Amino acid sequence: MNSHSVQAGRTGHRAPLMVNKNRLWGSLRELALIGAYDDEATGLQGVNRLALTDEDAAARNLVTSWMKAAGLEVRVDRMGNIFGRRAGRRDDLAPVMTGSHIDSVATAGSFDGCLGVLGAIEVIRSLEENAVTTERPIEVAIFTEEEGVRFGTDMLGSAVAAGRLPLDYAYNLTDSSGRRLEDELERIGFKGEADVLTSPPHAYVECHIEQGPILTKEGFDVGVVTGVQAISWLKLVFTGQAAHAGATPTPLRVDAGLAAAQTIVHARELVDSGRYGELRATAGGLTVTPGLPNVIPGSAEIVFDIRHPETEQVSRAEAALAEYVKTLSATYPGLLVETSHMARTRDVPFDPRIQESIAHSAEALGYRYRRLISGAGHDAQEIAALCPTAMVFVRGEYDGISHNPREYSSPEACEQGVNVLARTLTTLANTTD
Ligand code: HGY
Ligand code: MN
Ligand code: MN
Repeated sequence: MNSHSVQAGRTGHRAPLMVNKNRLWGSLRELALIGAYDDEATGLQGVNRLALTDEDAAARNLVTSWMKAAGLEVRVDRMGNIFGRRAGRRDDLAPVMTGSHIDSVATAGSFDGCLGVLGAIEVIRSLEENAVTTERPIEVAIFTEEEGVRFGTDMLGSAVAAGRLPLDYAYNLTDSSGRRLEDELERIGFKGEADVLTSPPHAYVECHIEQGPILTKEGFDVGVVTGVQAISWLKLVFTGQAAHAGATPTPLRVDAGLAAAQTIVHARELVDSGRYGELRATAGGLTVTPGLPNVIPGSAEIVFDIRHPETEQVSRAEAALAEYVKTLSATYPGLLVETSHMARTRDVPFDPRIQESIAHSAEALGYRYRRLISGAGHDAQEIAALCPTAMVFVRGEYDGISHNPREYSSPEACEQGVNVLARTLTTLANTTD
């Protein structure tokens, strides 16, 4: 009997393993209630569930209970990453791993990360109820602080699990109110005993919403993800001189807020210049101090999110920004600008064999698919350092908007993505070579 077909009833009729759409949808809806808030801008219910907050703790406890109910053996590592293991017939073999994150940004929808975790649990539930066994174990992972928006660097839990960032470095990261990550892990009861990922998985497959317009616009059911673009979170601190907004003549001003604003405009000019291909630059973080109408800003801080499919282009754009900032110091004598990196990851290509396995699953299920690069960062890009890795994308509505409560994928779209995940995981979990 091949791995993903199940014996249904007495007829011996074999059908590919299909997940339970309504059960998956119910889990997504229930998890979205934790950290729910009324979003004024959209009039919708959003999700605000930053890593290691009380909301994240409640979500972790709920999802862990679902993992146990699905028969998974759960462990938590010292970084708070949660792993649920389903035994294989050959438990000595490295597991096939899947998963994602359940922490969110502050203006999230219900699907980012959660679909990958709850979809994986739905696969396990379906394997159990259809009595499907696999050669290899299958593990479901929930990685800590994937968004990076509380402790300042994204894909943090998976980066520690994959060895890119040291555990102690992560432990000492602090949030905006100075609380340490390690203390927060302890406070919510998720500073686990297990060492961070000691032995590499056999393969890793993550299901995630596309968070972009391509699949829906071009009429595809699912996406086979070829890789992740390079990401840089570049912090610039502008120090000028606070002064009276009315009494200070323009030539005497060292206006840190103006310098920051001009730098943001310049970043956009670099994008529009066409000299950097598909460069994307966002001033997601912008603070001006003291932020009072009658005081010329003495200081300002920008955190740029700069991305490109090729790492080198990100470096070129950063160098161009550094040049521009130098000219500002000449324009405004006394202006000081310091730059530092909060996060920096290279572009990561995914393994062609795993991509092929995902494509075969989509074909077998009769789904239209295409290959595409991911605009967003994902835990998969970190785990790719440990084992052959790729991702399944699920199409989204409203141009695939994400990091916004309007984020929406239909129950059918979610079902298709998770069916592809199910088939790919079972296929990989039955390869013993
Ligand atoms: O930043 C990202 O792309 C992801 O949402 N963490
Ligand atoms: Mn995500
Ligand atoms: Mn995200």
